[in-house]
Amino acid sequence: MRDLIKELEKFSADKNMSYGKIAKAMGIGQSTLSEVRNGTYKGDPSAVMEKIKDFLERHKEKMRRINFSCDTDVRKRVFYAIDLVKKYVASNVSEQIIESAKIAYIVGRAGIGKTHALREYARTYKAKCIFITAENNITDTVLVRKVAKELGIATNGRTEEIKDNIKAAVKFTETLVIIDEGEHLKPKVIDVMRSIADQTGIGLVIAGTEKLKHQLLSQRGEYEYLLSRAATIMQLNSLSTEDVGKIVKKFLGSDVELYDESKLSSLINLISTTVKGSARQLNNLLTLASDIASRPENVALTDGLITEAHIKAATKLLFIV
Ligand SMILES: Nc1ncnc2c1ncn2[C@@H]1O[C@H](COP(=O)(O)OP(=O)(O)O)[C@@H](O)[C@H]1O
Ligand SMILES: [Mg+2]
Repeated sequence: MRDLIKELEKFSADKNMSYGKIAKAMGIGQSTLSEVRNGTYKGDPSAVMEKIKDFLERHKEKMRRINFSCDTDVRKRVFYAIDLVKKYVASNVSEQIIESAKIAYIVGRAGIGKTHALREYARTYKAKCIFITAENNITDTVLVRKVAKELGIATNGRTEEIKDNIKAAVKFTETLVIIDEGEHLKPKVIDVMRSIADQTGIGLVIAGTEKLKHQLLSQRGEYEYLLSRAATIMQLNSLSTEDVGKIVKKFLGSDVELYDESKLSSLINLISTTVKGSARQLNNLLTLASDIASRPENVALTDGLITEAHIKAATKLLFIV
C-alpha cells in the first residue's frame, strides 16, 4: 500500500499534476485521497487503493499525440486577423476614439486548426482576452452572462443592467473578445457584442465554419450590417503538404534523423493525401500509427519507427477506404 502511494506521489511530481486534479480524474473526493495518503482515512481504504492502482496503470501506457504548435498557414492567418483587431483596439485606447466596432471574422472548414490557433493567441495575449465557445441556439442573454462571468461581474439581474456593467468595466481597455464556433450565432446575438464593442473600443473576433461565411455573405438585413464592420474576413485553407510536413516532423522528434530524406518525404506525401488537409485527422492518424509502431512485434522490426505500412494500417482503422 505504501508503495502504491509512493508511486502516485512520484506520478504527481513528474507530471506536475495536483492531487485535486488526480482525485477528480479518478472520480473520488480530494479529501478522501488526501486522508488515504496520510493514513487518516476512517473507512476501508481498499476500494480507493484499487482506484489508485487502476489510475497508475492507465497512465503507464503512454499515448503519443500532438502537444505542440506548428506555424501552419492557418495559424499565420488567424494571428494576422487578430493582430489587426488588436491594432485598432490599441489605437482606440491611445487616441480615445470610440467608433463603430471593427470585427475580425475568421472562416474555414472543420478540423484545420482554428480553435488551436485562437486558443494559443488568447493564451499569449498580454491584455485581457475573453474566449467564448458559442453553443447551438445560444441567446444574447446567455452570451452577455458568459462575458460578465469571465470579467468577474455579477451575472444576476436584468440583461440590460449586466450589459451596462460590462461596458463600464471594459471601456478603453485593450480587451479582446474571441468567439469560436460563431456559426451558431444568430445575428441578434452577434449584435449584442457588436454594440458593446461599438461603445467601448474593445475588439471582437468571430471564428467559424463556412456556414458562418455564408450567413455573413447572404447580405440579409442584420448580417449586412454586421458585415460592414468587418476589419477582415479571413479565409483559411486546408493544410498544405508543407504544413503536414512541419507537423509530422515535429511529431517524430529526434526520430526524424533516422529516416533517409526520400523515405521521409514519401511518408509525408502519403500522410498528406490521406488526411486531405485536416489537422484533426492528421492528429488521429499520427497517434494511431505511433501506437501501431510501438506494438512489441513491430518494435522488433522497425525499432518503433513509423513506416508507410503503419500509416496504411492506421488509415484502415480510421477511414472508410
Ligand atoms: N498549428 C498546429 N500545430 C499543431 N497541431 C495542430 C495545429 N493546428 C491544429 N492542430 C491539431 O489539429 C487538431 C484540430 O484542430 P482544431 O483547432 O480543433 O480545428 P478546428 O477548430 O479548425 O476544427 C488539434 O487538436 C491539434 O491536434
Ligand atoms: Mg474548432
